[in-house]
Amino acid sequence: MPDSKNVKMHAASLNFYYGDFQALHDINLEFERNQVTALIGPSGCGKSTFLRCLNRMNDLIPISRVDGEICLDGMNIHDARLDVVELRRRVGMVFQKPNPFPKSIFENVAYGLRVNGVRDKEYIAEKVEQSLRHAALWDEVKDRLHESGLGLSGGQQQRLCIARALAVEPEVLLMDEPASALDPIATQKIEELIHILKKDYTIIIVTHSMQQAARVSDLTAFFYMGKLVEWGATEMMFTRPRNKQTEDYITGRFG
Ligand SMILES: Nc1ncnc2c1ncn2[C@@H]1O[C@H](COP(=O)(O)OP(=O)(O)O)[C@@H](O)[C@H]1O
Ligand SMILES: [Mg+2]
Repeated sequence: MPDSKNVKMHAASLNFYYGDFQALHDINLEFERNQVTALIGPSGCGKSTFLRCLNRMNDLIPISRVDGEICLDGMNIHDARLDVVELRRRVGMVFQKPNPFPKSIFENVAYGLRVNGVRDKEYIAEKVEQSLRHAALWDEVKDRLHESGLGLSGGQQQRLCIARALAVEPEVLLMDEPASALDPIATQKIEELIHILKKDYTIIIVTHSMQQAARVSDLTAFFYMGKLVEWGATEMMFTRPRNKQTEDYITGRFG
């Protein structure tokens, strides 16, 4: 029911190609507002490709081609009236490897605001603080805002990247294995943060860790070889999957 008011984004009959290679086949999937949806499945099954479709990051790959529909609040994201820069502001992204800019902590977070033309210094300072607080990083960095973001630990860098994404007031957050480069304690912090952030954002997270999917998500979608095999409430997916392939994957019979 793509029109139901709890659906923030949906994909319908989505196919995606890298040249002759079809990486996604007829994907139909909905993302509910203020819920965390985990995308799981073995390496190479198309999770990152799908995630990148949602804010048109794949547009940057020249041989790629997409057909089908992706809607944000009911509006097709390929609609000419929706500016792609605006789309990427509304649908923010956090990557696998923390990728702060070689700039100060402050400037990392202020970056998106400056790019969007914001000049008001007071507003920028407020927004930087608010975003760092939201990303559960403020207390650790408030006395060193003008030091390089690259001097932070891996886990802090990832929260800095989350703060950077939050500063431009997105509605949806895409996270591609955001904790896979982090140690267990930093991972736990990111997972706790995801719980807090879902009050304000719709979150879609790719993870290769089934335990992580079970811990952080409300809904889980299982991909296999470019197809969406099954999706539904995480609890149901992990206890009573309808599909044999899903069951085999979540019980670790293949990976
Ligand atoms: N830039 C690219 N050019 C060509 N093929 C790609 C590219 N990126 C990914 N692929 C292929 O698309 C398939 C899905 O990859 P990907 O979305 O990265 O999977 P996952 O994130 O689930 O590991 C794989 O077969 C991969 O080799
Ligand atoms: Mg991937």
